[in-house]
Amino acid sequence: MRTHKCGELNKDNLGESVALCGWVHKRRDHGGVIFIDLRDREGLVQVVFNPETTDTFAIAESVRSEYVLRVEGLVRDRLEGTVNPNMATGEIEVLVSHIEVLNESETPPFPIESEIEVNEEMRLRYRYIDLRKKAMLEKMKVRRDVTRNLRNFLDAQDFFEMETPILTKATPEGARDYIVPSRTHQHAFFALPQSPQLYKQLLMMAGMDRYYQVVRCFRDEDLRADRQPEFTQLDIETSFMDEDAIMAIMEDMMRNLFKEVIDVDLGNPFPRMTHAEAMSRFGSDKPDLRIPLELVDIADEMKDVEFKVFSGPANDPKGRVVALRIPNGSKLSRKDIDAYTKYVSIYGARGLAYIKVNDRDGGLEGLQSPIVKFAPAEVWEAVLEKTGAQTGDLIFFGADKINIVNEAIGALRVKVGLDLDLLEGKWKPLWVVDFPMFEWDEKGSRWNAIHHPFTAPSCSEEELKADPGAALSRAYDLVLNGTEVGGGSIRINKTAMQATVLGILGIDEQEANDKFGFLLEALKYGCPPHGGMAYGLDRLVMLMTGSSSIREVIAFPKTQSAACPLVDAPAVINEEQLKELHIKLHKPVVKEEA
Ligand code: AMO
Ligand code: AMP
Repeated sequence: MRTHKCGELNKDNLGESVALCGWVHKRRDHGGVIFIDLRDREGLVQVVFNPETTDTFAIAESVRSEYVLRVEGLVRDRLEGTVNPNMATGEIEVLVSHIEVLNESETPPFPIESEIEVNEEMRLRYRYIDLRKKAMLEKMKVRRDVTRNLRNFLDAQDFFEMETPILTKATPEGARDYIVPSRTHQHAFFALPQSPQLYKQLLMMAGMDRYYQVVRCFRDEDLRADRQPEFTQLDIETSFMDEDAIMAIMEDMMRNLFKEVIDVDLGNPFPRMTHAEAMSRFGSDKPDLRIPLELVDIADEMKDVEFKVFSGPANDPKGRVVALRIPNGSKLSRKDIDAYTKYVSIYGARGLAYIKVNDRDGGLEGLQSPIVKFAPAEVWEAVLEKTGAQTGDLIFFGADKINIVNEAIGALRVKVGLDLDLLEGKWKPLWVVDFPMFEWDEKGSRWNAIHHPFTAPSCSEEELKADPGAALSRAYDLVLNGTEVGGGSIRINKTAMQATVLGILGIDEQEANDKFGFLLEALKYGCPPHGGMAYGLDRLVMLMTGSSSIREVIAFPKTQSAACPLVDAPAVINEEQLKELHIKLHKPVVKEEA
């Protein structure tokens, strides 16, 4: 139907007869001459209709936005003064001799290009129109380039691309499962994989040596900007490599990806930080190192002050008291500080004390704050000294249980850093290592795995049993600009160790056999030392395209409430299907009106 794509034409095509197909992006009537910007995947080209070509002109007059056209014509120079330097094809145009309307279009629900913001529900409902936008197309192209680049890299390194089942059994990664009822097995259900974790380990036991897969994972969890119920992982597993070897090859892959796709040097090597250091300095296991603000512990200074808000947590082994110095922060207004106080309350903080350092050498007089009166001058002097405060700075304080302080002041650090434009550098990758194996769940009063339960500890079985809380794991997370883009570990490859870990997690033998019997059995038949990692592909593309959410880089994402307004899923199914699946619903389902 066509000889060229619209966006491909340039001066090299001058004088050529071409046939083009595309959508009417814009139509302009200019004193008897009609100009149409015709659009396809490669871009726009201006096509021109003269009134002399009567029939063609008449059709051109009748077309509207988003009609699909086929035109034939001659590529010519644009008239002097009409060259458009903002358009790839801006030096030329096509004088049309023949036009065919391949299809009409109703007026689209929103314009393809405009400054007006369209609400997301609407964009998702008409995603096939939303994807026509140049910005969206660009993102999809980066996404294609990213997967292509990663595949090429891994193929060249002798990784073996394999598929694993989607209809399977629960794989614990910390979320709820999506469940699919079985018709052929009464009262039994498949789970969609939260990740291919156990299959990729089985592939190592099968001798596949190096595996990868670009794979959909399903997690029924609370959604956020960087979380979707179905998302894509680049999933990787290797045999006979230790963590240093795996991290080295993974770093090479990332450096190559960023260099080739968006021309960014990520640096070599990526820095590493222990989990403990990350929590202590940044209150987060995925610190954004572009932000030059740090949490400073001041419990020692606050143990004996009369201000109970500080001395309480300072004397509590489960408490934490920190200061966060904001350089030049004293310009923050009362209103700003109130807004930050509200912000930290989302994370459970009961307040946000602060001190404005109006004059660093002025003693108590130089400090402006409602809390200065609660402690003697030498305490504040020690705090100023410890934080490196200078005239014009502001210091925020957090005092509470360790988790609350870390979450609240960790998040505040990022928010203030972004608000005050304090970012240093554009790309800051970081390996976070030496995670604890377990965290204590107060409510359930039991241990939970920090990664999944197949992660190897860095200590012996005896040490693990003796003090689970002190055990570190052989896991590593890759963090980029404060987003966890990937994570992995060396796995347990011995039956006894796996049983011990499941035991600590409170999974008894019966339950272990029901859930992971196949894995425990497979470990007995010559399981190689192995480990791997998975990247959140959507998150990577989100960062590489500067998008604000992973929904922007997924062709057909779900809404915040995990629904698809385009196909209207999830949907009610009929009685007959329910019966076949041996399912009886509790209450009659009332379908919500859109
Ligand atoms: P993990 O659970 O850390 O590890 O997942 C790996 C990476 O996947 C991304 N990710 C998500 N992206 C979008 N939406 C979500 N709901 C979501 N959940 C996770 C993150 C994360 O770093 N099997 C292990 C990996 C391994 O040990 O090899 C796993 O799935 O970027
Ligand atoms: P109050 O005496 O409760 O009015 O608190 C005095 C100052 O301490 C206020 O600025 C509060 O925002 C702040 N504050 C209260 N609780 C905390 C806390 N847990 N951590 C940090 N600051 C707090």
